[in-house]
Amino acid sequence: QGSSLVLGIETSCDETAVAVVERRADGQGRILSNVVLSQFDKHAIYGGVVPEIAARAHTDCLDRLVQVALAEAKIGFSDLSGIAAASGPGLIGGLIVGATTGKALALATGKPFLAINHLEAHALTVGLTDGVRPPYLMLLVSGGHTQLLLVEDVGRYRRLATTIDDALGEAYDKTAKLLGLPMPGGPSVEKAALSGNPKRFDLPRPMAGREDPHFSFAGLKTAVRHAAAKIAPLSATDVADLCASFQAAVCESVADRVRRAMRVTLSSLPEDRPKPFVVAGGVAANKVLRTALVGVSEDFGFTFHAPPLGLCTDNGAMIAWAGAERLALGLADGLQAPVRPRWPL
Ligand code: KG4
Ligand code: ZN
Repeated sequence: QGSSLVLGIETSCDETAVAVVERRADGQGRILSNVVLSQFDKHAIYGGVVPEIAARAHTDCLDRLVQVALAEAKIGFSDLSGIAAASGPGLIGGLIVGATTGKALALATGKPFLAINHLEAHALTVGLTDGVRPPYLMLLVSGGHTQLLLVEDVGRYRRLATTIDDALGEAYDKTAKLLGLPMPGGPSVEKAALSGNPKRFDLPRPMAGREDPHFSFAGLKTAVRHAAAKIAPLSATDVADLCASFQAAVCESVADRVRRAMRVTLSSLPEDRPKPFVVAGGVAANKVLRTALVGVSEDFGFTFHAPPLGLCTDNGAMIAWAGAERLALGLADGLQAPVRPRWPL
């Protein structure tokens, strides 16, 4: 099989994104264009993503973004090998806009359509950016998901752990909201924490020490709420200290869970080469968490990999790449492929 060029469309939440990637026959990837339009301003006054507004905003700009992505890649529709669209999990209105557009383009151009699982796209991004191939252990941390996965192969994922309540990105977003910081909460909390004292508040390290590798963040968020209520009104220093203390608790809890998963997966990964540990998803953009996970990886003899910051949060390149990987395996979908608001890996 030769090289392929795939167009990827991402509309599962509040970013409208389109990209073109190339996948060479040797499995190496290259991004030809990657355009992301955040709808952040449209949702800001509501303090969260409003599904109907998101769907309409995707409708307004998607056609134009497809044109821009092709123009930046300096190719036309006829050069494409396939068209991929995120088809779940996510907000159904946005998914319908993206998937229907992708199918229409596939029908008009006669190219195969690829219905992509957004989580699978996050999970495979390091193949595009770092050339990391399965099998590997991975931590997927986004606004809606927190999972430890054994990526056995493209299309073969074994879920080792998940959150029993909030996703990690959700915990960041809720913590930001309760401290009056702007959305998206993750980057706001990370920035505020830079000048804060991580030892000032003694917050719980959820699940630490437990045998199973699952996650929990709801209690931590509530502990921040109680700590904040005790000292209100909050000064800028209080907010910084709360953010830093929250982040320290998050990192220790996650590191403990990852150590647990590393122990149980050591035997499932090949012994004759480095065992990769991969972190991806929006929260993987967090530098403090990345540093903590580099340390854990070193302790257990894993090599640490994470996509560059801009490819941790939602983007079209990851969708296009997952499409190219599936296409290489002959896994194209028909136009009847459904959108699936819930679609576990
Ligand atoms: O993967 P993503 O862009 O969208 C989903 O699929 O959910 O992840 C978005 C989540 C949000 O909760 C956002 O607050 C969080 O990722 N996030 C961060 C950072 N950047 C984004 N969390 C912590 N630190 C960051 N630097
Ligand atoms: Zn995502």
